[in-house]
Amino acid sequence: MSESFAKWQECCPEVTRDRDLIDGPKRTLIGRLLAAHAKRQAAWPLLLWGPAGVGKTCAALCLLDYANANRKVFPGWRPAYITAGEWVAVMTAAKLGQYEPSGCRGPISESDLWHWWTVSSVICLDEIGARDKVSDTHYEIVKMSLDRRQGQPLVLVSNLGPTELSRVYDDRIASRMAGGTVVKFVGQDRRVSK
Ligand SMILES: Nc1ncnc2c1ncn2[C@@H]1O[C@H](COP(=O)(O)OP(=O)(O)OP(=O)(O)O)[C@@H](O)[C@H]1O
Ligand SMILES: [Mg+2]
Repeated sequence: MSESFAKWQECCPEVTRDRDLIDGPKRTLIGRLLAAHAKRQAAWPLLLWGPAGVGKTCAALCLLDYANANRKVFPGWRPAYITAGEWVAVMTAAKLGQYEPSGCRGPISESDLWHWWTVSSVICLDEIGARDKVSDTHYEIVKMSLDRRQGQPLVLVSNLGPTELSRVYDDRIASRMAGGTVVKFVGQDRRVSK
């Protein structure tokens, strides 16, 4: 599969995202997780949650940049970034044999996608819980996605905390999402204060 499927490099290619971008206590928590990961003792997934514009996606991309620069500690395919909505759409199209991104010589199957999902060194699934309700298909794909990366590096990003995730999905999903390392973001919307 083409590496361009994972779009994170395109998000902001001119910027080098250093972990110093992440402030204080959050950087400490993420630094601890990375140190534990190097010793194979990390509590994944990492759930980054908080209101809009506080830097969650930026922090996740810093971590992906770090993983990309430290391939020995993060072996596998290149770090990947995708939103939950895109991932569900792509999986749904693949199930129907209709996922054919440009540059590919034929449709990509559901099993190809699951393979990609399991062999990528780290994946960021962004914008989780962006809608108040999720379809059965969305629920199943997200649940399988969590189960199939159990114990592997996975960064989950949401505007919702564990309690709200439990409302939008259910306790089983929320327990999986919040079962590793949880980092709550607070503060001002950086987009507004720019
Ligand atoms: N540490 C930082 N220093 C400077 N700018 C930052 C920092 N973190 C984020 N930004 C900028 O602030 C804006 C919002 O950041 P980001 O997209 O990461 O927020 P978010 O929490 O993911 O928001 P949303 O919930 O809306 O997706 C972006 O333009 C980003 O480049
Ligand atoms: Mg974001």
